[in-house]
Amino acid sequence: MTELPEHVQVNRDYWNSMAHQWTAAGECSWAGEPRWGIWGHPEGEVGLLPADMHGLDAVELGCGTGYGSAWMARRGARVVGVDISSAQLATARRLDTEHGLGITWVEASAEAVPRPDGSFDFALSEYGAAIWCDPYRWIPEARRLLRPGGRLVFLASSFWAAVCSPADGALPVTHRLERPYFGLHRLDWRDAVDEPGGIEFSLPIADWFRLFRQVGFAVEDFLELRAPAEATGVRFGIPAAWARDFPGEQVWKVRVAG
Ligand SMILES: C[S@@+](CC[C@H](N)C(=O)[O-])C[C@H]1O[C@@H](n2cnc3c(N)ncnc32)[C@H](O)[C@@H]1O
Repeated sequence: MTELPEHVQVNRDYWNSMAHQWTAAGECSWAGEPRWGIWGHPEGEVGLLPADMHGLDAVELGCGTGYGSAWMARRGARVVGVDISSAQLATARRLDTEHGLGITWVEASAEAVPRPDGSFDFALSEYGAAIWCDPYRWIPEARRLLRPGGRLVFLASSFWAAVCSPADGALPVTHRLERPYFGLHRLDWRDAVDEPGGIEFSLPIADWFRLFRQVGFAVEDFLELRAPAEATGVRFGIPAAWARDFPGEQVWKVRVAG
């Protein structure tokens, strides 16, 4: 097996150490209806999933505790959940047994999924590969995994959240531009002064468009999510008031072109 890139090793170790903090939220999400992102936008507002997924092969790239996979399975899809963290997958497997959905779980990097070309009709990521994988590796990989006409939908923090994050990693985000926008790519939070983390990725919007075009994806939709009026407090370093002024999260919906 080829050696994993540094950011994948760092993020695997980070998530194995953090997995226990995500089990309760995972249990809740498995039991509930689809809600997305840090403010829990209902599926009816953001439309990440096809209403009927019967007959579709679906993959979740960076599935964590696997609730996105569960929601796709309940819509009728045959689902594979991929994650690099054995500890996260242990929770996903346990919840799958409890809910009886029969999802396939694969421990692997979403940048190199051990499945043949054209294995899936639909690929999903919510804060999985979407932020923890290098877009120049995982977007071509998602394209490889999808069949003609297949769709990739992913939700991630926006470039706004990245450029408004103080350079020393202090939380929360500010109303100032704290980092350059041009050149945005790898965000290393290991030495952050508040809540040190792993290595994340974010791109300028024009770079996303160029990457999609280069690998053969056509953009179907792009959403900039706004915190709901009733949201309060600070979640994951994002104050609700800030997320009503700036889109802290974004959704890309792309389709294999041609
Ligand atoms: C925040 S969780 C995403 C799952 C779920 N949607 C959520 O928000 O809880 C992030 C997941 O990405 C996984 N991850 C990080 N790097 C990865 C990689 N290279 N390949 C696959 N999964 C990865 C982590 O192990 C973790 O389970």
